[in-house]
Amino acid sequence: MNPITIYQPGKIVFGANTTGQLPGDCRLLGYKKVLLIFTSPLKNAANELAGKFENLSIRTELMEYRFGEPTVDYFNTMLATAKTVRPDCVIGIGGGSVLDTAKLLAALWNSEQNIREVFGKNLLQSRKCGLICIPTTSGTGSEVSPNAILLDESDAEKKGVISPFLVPDSCYIDPELQVGLPPKITAETAMDALSHCIEAYTNKFSHPVTDAYALAGIKLITGNLEKACQNGFDLDARSALALGSMYGGMCLGPVNTAAVHALSYGLGGKYHVPHGLANAILLPEVMRFNLDTCPDKYREIASAVGAKTASEGIEKIEALAAACGIPQKLSSIGIAQSEVENLADLAMKVTRLLVNNPKEVKREDAIEIYNKLLLC
Ligand SMILES: [Fe+2]
Repeated sequence: MNPITIYQPGKIVFGANTTGQLPGDCRLLGYKKVLLIFTSPLKNAANELAGKFENLSIRTELMEYRFGEPTVDYFNTMLATAKTVRPDCVIGIGGGSVLDTAKLLAALWNSEQNIREVFGKNLLQSRKCGLICIPTTSGTGSEVSPNAILLDESDAEKKGVISPFLVPDSCYIDPELQVGLPPKITAETAMDALSHCIEAYTNKFSHPVTDAYALAGIKLITGNLEKACQNGFDLDARSALALGSMYGGMCLGPVNTAAVHALSYGLGGKYHVPHGLANAILLPEVMRFNLDTCPDKYREIASAVGAKTASEGIEKIEALAAACGIPQKLSSIGIAQSEVENLADLAMKVTRLLVNNPKEVKREDAIEIYNKLLLC
């Protein structure tokens, strides 16, 4: 068995309404001033939390996140504000973009390093500030992972910071916060989480520890996504997706993703396709590409999704995405044939993920995968 090192939050709180424990927990930890980053739809929840913190004599600065997937420029604007606040704990409440931003703010607001110096693996020197993450979507698994992704506008590339210092001290996974999330966001984010699980399970560096998380995540997500899309208030389905997403996040640190994510980064960086949507469209075709390299793993995936053969398993995942309203083709989201070569060039740069793929992906393979996703 290969050696493996796993970093996880010191405390994971999971369950409906568990966010209510947060202010008391922060008081026990001795925090005096927290910076609470939230997305606009959560303004009321953030204000309510701030009131509870203030009642416990914890000063709270609210920072509204008003952006899509984070860029270096937008991050630096928020960093300048964080440096004036000087919090002893940063709390992120929102989707993956908010959590990634919160993680990097906690690491960099009182650091000599700047964001461009820490892109890559293990370049971050420390984190001297508390960090708590509360996901409000089931997708990135950022609440338990050592990863944060930003778009660098200077070269339109999505870049990752991977460091044990980005693993939150604690996270509160409260499915109640995800009740009523629109079907489109539910489906796209869940397909991202499913990609994390599948890419970890079929990874060149897969490991029995992460295999267990990955298979459990695949079952939970594929078994509950359609229910959560049909009835956004189904708390059991929301809980299952939240758990599946957490399992996906637990795979990200020790094993990480592979070709689906490598091929999707250009779609996000250059064409601003949402991360989950790009992965959802690519996932079945990349699975077909990889199938002959690790057929046993694909048979296990098929079994986890209730299909008989590896090919049927892929078809079932494709059908699930379609049933949840996700387009099947890149051309359906405005990507033209003329973009394919450029997309393949961008994908080839993501070597840190391509090396994880069970089968080598050459430039011509990437072109073929993209071409299959264009309407004839
Ligand atoms: Fe992802």
